[in-house]
Amino acid sequence: MQAAISWAHGVALVRHAAKHRLITLPASAGPDTVRGGLETLAAAHPALDSLTDPQVVALWKEPISQAGWTRAEQMWQDVSITDDGHRVDGFRLGDTYQALSAEARKSRALCQTPAWVAELLLELSLQPALDDIGADQVKMIDPSCGTGHILLTAFHRIRAHIPRGRDRYAAVPLERSLERALEAVHGVDLDAYAVVLARYRLLAATAAILKRPIAAVPAGWPVQVAVADALLSTEEPLLRPGDYHAVVGNPPYITVTDPILRERIRRAYPEVCSGKYSLALPFTVLMTRLARPAGTIAQLTANSFMKREFGRKYVEEYLPTLDLTWVIDTSGCVIPGHGTPTLIMVHNAQPPQGGTVITIRGARGEPRMPRDPSQGLVWRAIEDAVHQRLALDRLRRAVESDPSTFRP
Ligand SMILES: C[S@@+](CC[C@H](N)C(=O)[O-])C[C@H]1O[C@@H](n2cnc3c(N)ncnc32)[C@H](O)[C@@H]1O
Repeated sequence: MQAAISWAHGVALVRHAAKHRLITLPASAGPDTVRGGLETLAAAHPALDSLTDPQVVALWKEPISQAGWTRAEQMWQDVSITDDGHRVDGFRLGDTYQALSAEARKSRALCQTPAWVAELLLELSLQPALDDIGADQVKMIDPSCGTGHILLTAFHRIRAHIPRGRDRYAAVPLERSLERALEAVHGVDLDAYAVVLARYRLLAATAAILKRPIAAVPAGWPVQVAVADALLSTEEPLLRPGDYHAVVGNPPYITVTDPILRERIRRAYPEVCSGKYSLALPFTVLMTRLARPAGTIAQLTANSFMKREFGRKYVEEYLPTLDLTWVIDTSGCVIPGHGTPTLIMVHNAQPPQGGTVITIRGARGEPRMPRDPSQGLVWRAIEDAVHQRLALDRLRRAVESDPSTFRP
């Protein structure tokens, strides 16, 4: 990350932590406060120690000029970086890193998954696992987690999970609900700064719920987000195959421009990489490998493989080997940052079970740009269709398990 962008985002990060009382800063204001704030955060929890690493946070390499400092300060006086409402989870911090770093957007396809998209992906993948085995055992991963929008959404879903049939007052103690949510959530990304931001956000959410500073979050509670090339790493323990009940992501769907890297990935994923393949294809294979047998994989991805020659092998040879359950055309939705047409695909890590593939086919796009994209007509229609179908399936299962309950 370039130093100027790093300074601009460093100011935002330290401001976020101080305003939400997650760290205490000296009263003086100036560049030293930002570096001091990062040092305080790095000392507060072992997961944050890379905040003082110049290879991760470039502001350690270059001092900021007085004019630059004034501009950075001014920017965050005009733009709110803190969280509204009762949750402190740094969605704005993630979005501003994406907005500031053209390099992360262009070379690694950093593009945050909005929380409302993440919720739908998790509803279709993590939620069934949570309902089946409960929050103490469930494990999920986003292997291209960026600054952690999906991870934070999963964290809250797991933390607040109440098993069916249990009453609210029998809920687990607050501390255990947070610890087990941290145990369940895993992420990997190539971008070391995005990774430390994702770790900070998980800790900020935890500390804010505990109403304590980050330094008071027990150091033994795991924050499992690692820097790695998820497609090629053979050493990262979080990428052990067959480990996760739910694998959820919005993988990069750019093509690799470096020919050496492109060939390495092609050799590692020969079953899908053909022609000038998009990274979305090897990511589907990776996500499937990470899931436990019958685990669920849900992704928001580009639909380019349906239209271009490089997708032929994937569609004709690879997809038929998957137990595909949902294909949702989201190309008519407005998903901020996602200029290319997308779809949601859900499958289980097992051979096809001969059941139904539920498809939601697009009829038309948004008639006008929605002010709030989560309330767009097309997106709302998709959400309604998914929820109706899930409700119907739940009813069918309940009737099958106890037909007497529903006798008129
Ligand atoms: C569309 S963004 C994902 C956003 C994220 N899911 C979220 O919750 O906001 C794609 C991410 O893929 C990461 N990425 C690209 N190539 C990767 C690789 N080989 N291994 C791991 N991450 C990678 C990028 O750094 C970027 O953060």
